[in-house]
Amino acid sequence: MSQFWKPGTERPRLIDDEEGGVLFYSTSALSSSSSGYGFASVEKQRQRLPVYKYRTAILYLVETHATAIIVGETGSGKTTQIPQFLKEAGWAEGGRIIACTQPRRLAVQSVASRVAEEMGVKLGEEVGYTIRFEDVTNTDLTRIKFLTDGVLLREMMDDPLLSKYSVIMVDEAHERSLSTDILLGLLKKIQRRRPELRLIISSATIEAKKISSFFSPSKRRQALQTEDHGPNAEPAILSVEGRGFNVEIFYVEDPVPDYLQAAVSTVLSIHDQEAMGDILMFLTGQDDIDAAVQLLSEESRNGRNQGLPRADQDLVFSPTPRGKRKVVISTNIAETSLTLEGIVYVVDSGFSKQRFYNPITDIESLIVAPISKASARQRAGRAGRVRPGKCYRLYTEQYFLKEMSAEGIPEIQRSNLVSSVIQLKALGIDNILGFDWLASPSSEAMIRALEVLYSLGVLDSDAKLTSPDGFQVAEIPLDPMISKTILASNQYGCSEEVITIAALLSMQSIWISARGTEKELDEVKLRFAAAEGDHVTFLNVYKGFIQSNKSSKWCHKNFINYNAMKRALEVREQLRRIAQRLGIVLKSCEGDIQVVRKAITAGFFANACRLEPYSYNGTYKTVRTSQEVYIHPSSVLFRVNPKWVIYNSLVSTDRQYMRNVISIDPSWLREAAPHFYQHQQPKPIAH
Ligand code: CDP
Ligand code: MG
Repeated sequence: MSQFWKPGTERPRLIDDEEGGVLFYSTSALSSSSSGYGFASVEKQRQRLPVYKYRTAILYLVETHATAIIVGETGSGKTTQIPQFLKEAGWAEGGRIIACTQPRRLAVQSVASRVAEEMGVKLGEEVGYTIRFEDVTNTDLTRIKFLTDGVLLREMMDDPLLSKYSVIMVDEAHERSLSTDILLGLLKKIQRRRPELRLIISSATIEAKKISSFFSPSKRRQALQTEDHGPNAEPAILSVEGRGFNVEIFYVEDPVPDYLQAAVSTVLSIHDQEAMGDILMFLTGQDDIDAAVQLLSEESRNGRNQGLPRADQDLVFSPTPRGKRKVVISTNIAETSLTLEGIVYVVDSGFSKQRFYNPITDIESLIVAPISKASARQRAGRAGRVRPGKCYRLYTEQYFLKEMSAEGIPEIQRSNLVSSVIQLKALGIDNILGFDWLASPSSEAMIRALEVLYSLGVLDSDAKLTSPDGFQVAEIPLDPMISKTILASNQYGCSEEVITIAALLSMQSIWISARGTEKELDEVKLRFAAAEGDHVTFLNVYKGFIQSNKSSKWCHKNFINYNAMKRALEVREQLRRIAQRLGIVLKSCEGDIQVVRKAITAGFFANACRLEPYSYNGTYKTVRTSQEVYIHPSSVLFRVNPKWVIYNSLVSTDRQYMRNVISIDPSWLREAAPHFYQHQQPKPIAH
């Protein structure tokens, strides 16, 4: 443990370890879990949670205050218990519903099934959940509903005052997700019209102060409020004291050159020198998690730790066998959204992957960036759940104190705002710049979003939604560019194909890619590859899947993710229903792929790129901003390099790569968006 010291005290005394092997488990995405109840009854378990002691206080505050802010550390029972308290106290009587929002879909599903289990009811009846394209609720029966904050925003389009809800709990507010911020602004407006509505905002950190002053009404309004004996409009804050144990913090003496190596060797020294207890390591993404698992496995094979290396996500939640030590390697998803039992040691790399959007170049990238102090504290807290723990920070104390920012940047200030702007417009918020933001997005990002929506014909020159296009695009729960493509497919007579493409594009990936099988995957892709590009390749995969009778064996043979395909079919079905509602005729172009490409151009013309003349390494320039971009190696057009292409999205690593690319004819651009291309005449390339 020589590289660590503890601030203000002696070096830690090393404790002799019991014999034990190491088990490696990793998680980057989560599978929903609900560990059964080992020993205590459900009721006993509930009573042991820290929020239980605050049951009366919480219910009293909700009764008497329009907004209650509840702060409590992860695992104290906020998400699973508070909705049940509310229901027990009668907030779901008379057909009303208690809503609880989460920023992450996975959290919605796992928490809903946990609560249904605790209440002994069937998921989808009294307790249900809704995420995009998946509604597991029952109109007559559901009383507690978990949903993503994005879905709740969508519900406002049909029911602007969210009138069916008696209490709305905005959970994990400290994450400051894009939709959470917008939701909070809109809920503040709704409150003025619905004094009987109650808001609960729950947070794992002290972000609460900012949120409290945001919801605090002006003095004058407050005076009015007292006269009509409504609930107190001033937000109440309640802090749930956790049962967390003390966590000792260790810093490195000098900055580490490579956090991955440092993390791995720290885990090995903890295992050598510290008492039993599981380790949680925070890294940034699938790549470095895979690398860490590999390094640890090698070490344990070579060294004295005769471990049993395994990487299995489901095992993350299972109890550690006696005499073994579990190492869980995770992204920042384990910071707050999930509960892991048995963690005593935390190794904090100090980094996480964060989304950043540059409105000037219009490029959104996921980059590895330093975390905030709030995150660092949160990570450390994970070590103190079962007994006193230790947290090893792979950065210096000086860095923590002097350089680390206090809080993260809210997502709204680092995202592309196209989808948010169209939603606000659809909800009748005309003055976007003057909206009551919890944190204002940059004016560049807002202007860029308005520009894109104007060029798509979604907004008119007064920045109002156009009719019918604008309203229709807003109705489709997809990126406005793809929604526009779906509308255009109606004119081109290829809605069936475009809806298939939209469904497959909404999956993270339909391919199974694993370390070491890249070559085989590339070969398999050739079976489906279409000369026109990736979108048409998707159509071929879809056709093959249907012809195979939706066989999982067929998927396996072709390196295709069966679960993603099954989900895509469901999404496709939902999209067909939405399209029909919008009056789009469901029609196939029967193999006339040119019209599909034209429809895609109608939505994605702003993503057009031209191959640089005389380029030998496949350099493209975006037509809009003259950015250098390249076709991603996973694309079927990689190395084919057609002269003109349109991409679906950009990913930036060492370069800007275009993902999901299709070749087009430049004349279609002016056809699709004459206003957009009038000053940017695409010139033919002389080769
Ligand atoms: O929301 P908060 O982090 O305060 O706590 P919670 O999610 O309500 O979790 C309370 C307890 O329920 C945790 O300590 C877990 O033991 C358990 N839980 C679970 O077993 N499975 C879930 N999907 C969620 C919670
Ligand atoms: Mg929670």
